[in-house]
Amino acid sequence: MSRLLLRATGVAIVVAGLTLGAQAQTAPPPGRLLASNCFQCHGTNGKGPGFDTLAGKSSSEIYKELKEFQSGKEGNGIMAKHAMGFTDAQMLSISSWLSTQR
Ligand code: HEC
Repeated sequence: MSRLLLRATGVAIVVAGLTLGAQAQTAPPPGRLLASNCFQCHGTNGKGPGFDTLAGKSSSEIYKELKEFQSGKEGNGIMAKHAMGFTDAQMLSISSWLSTQR
């Protein structure tokens, strides 16, 4: 009986610890995590070095370009394939975050 109680207390402590740990981390701003998919080729935060620099572009410009890549109108290259992996909402979120980078 007391053994069971001890085990339950242990589990409660672990759960409490995990909850505290999760709260201690500050969540990244919306779009930042998804945009990190772009950093390998466009530089950290889209600021280069790499292929075309994304920082400094407006949100609507980036979104429009992503939609063109996704539609296949901009060829069949790496960006087209990449854009196909995202939903509209995700692309809006990525574009909006990237537009905050100057
Ligand atoms: C594997 C490498 C790679 C990754 C990852 C990548 N890109 Fe690209 N991106 C490219 C290349 C290469 C080009 C140039 C392609 C072309 O002009 O056809 C490009 C071009 C672009 C352009 C057009 C820029 C311009 O000035 O015309 C935009 C916008 C863009 N990428 C956004 C993104 C976003 C947003 C992500 C993340 C969701 C991303 N890319 C991820 C390689 C990559």
